[in-house]
Amino acid sequence: MLLKGKKIVLGVTGSIAAYKSALIVRALIKEGAEVKVIMTAAAKDFISPLTLSTLSKHPVLIDIFREDTWSNHVMLGRWADIMLVAPLSCNTLAKMTAGLCDNLLLAVYLSATCPVMLAPAMDEDMWKHPSTHRNLQTLAADGNIIVPVTNGELASGLFGEGRMAEPETIISSLVQQFKSAGRLSGKKALVTAGPTYEHIDPVRFIGNHSSGKMGVAIARELLQCGAAVTLVLGPVPGTFVLDGLNVINVQTAEEMYNACHSVFEETDITVMAAAVADYTPVAVAPEKIKKKEESWQVALQKTPDILKSLGQKKTGRQVLAGFALETTNERENALAKLQQKNADIIVLNSLRDSGAGFGKDTNKVTVFDRNGGEKHFDLKSKAAVAKDIVDYIIEYIHV
Ligand code: C5P
Repeated sequence: MLLKGKKIVLGVTGSIAAYKSALIVRALIKEGAEVKVIMTAAAKDFISPLTLSTLSKHPVLIDIFREDTWSNHVMLGRWADIMLVAPLSCNTLAKMTAGLCDNLLLAVYLSATCPVMLAPAMDEDMWKHPSTHRNLQTLAADGNIIVPVTNGELASGLFGEGRMAEPETIISSLVQQFKSAGRLSGKKALVTAGPTYEHIDPVRFIGNHSSGKMGVAIARELLQCGAAVTLVLGPVPGTFVLDGLNVINVQTAEEMYNACHSVFEETDITVMAAAVADYTPVAVAPEKIKKKEESWQVALQKTPDILKSLGQKKTGRQVLAGFALETTNERENALAKLQQKNADIIVLNSLRDSGAGFGKDTNKVTVFDRNGGEKHFDLKSKAAVAKDIVDYIIEYIHV
């Protein structure tokens, strides 16, 4: 039984996918969980409370008040180890985003002290509406875990995106959530991500194509495992969900160096995934440099090597991981980097592997550690690679 003894509040809202909530309750009970179901008034039109109370072995809760009794929403939110809302309708999604509280489900959501997992379900056109995306982004930024919708046949008869994840997927997300949470609780982590911009004058800089995706994925994975995470983030294109992370935004290698050193002493796990510029202009021109000569030279000096400087400071209880992006003699260079920087772990990605590296959504890595460990991983999404790297670190430190 994968969820033995876990207390789960299941919120069911008015969506055609509500019929699947019966399968979810059955699967949760089978895995040993204790389940209390809350429905919105609209959900009753899609599935009978009797079905869900019979399957969950608890009365289904719908109203905040019923005759002379009051449902204690605060206690329900505290009772649960996790609150799952499946299906989550557009209407409840929007109300949660706004912090509205006109039914019991919303009152429990607002007073829940446990993690909240949301499985949206809607028609493709509603799913694609900008307000739906805005709302989901806000809820993710508030720290809720979102189970992505899938592609398939929708209630409208159309095929497309918006279908609620299958009950098995939702159950395995819950199992995964319980497994991961707590493995690094009490630990402090530091992650660097993105490029640095080295200023030439007020409008120009030397930068690189790093998207920050790999580092952000690692920071999020460490957070999922229960660590308190500081993310030192260079200037990255686009937006990321950075909920729950302590983010320090920096521009230059020097700012990144200072930010890292300001928190390093307290840090248990450090992962340096940023693509730090190796050189920076000797001086930043105070005004925009005018176009004059046919050729122009900018004098550059080396930036501080942040990883190396942390390696020199590191104590025995700290684990330090860096990245190596190599084009030739990958293995030798990665192993040399372990020594030179006094790191514990080096993650190698080779630019020779198609699908790996800057800006891509996938990566292919090999991990080396100072005890001689070496592990090759397949090409995967950056989120999956982040999981592999964090699992490797956890194994390395035997927590
Ligand atoms: O020496 P190299 O730049 O190849 O090393 C890459 C590793 O060192 C990465 O983990 C990167 O984040 C880190 N690094 C750093 N400071 C620099 C250059 C690289 O922390 N100035």
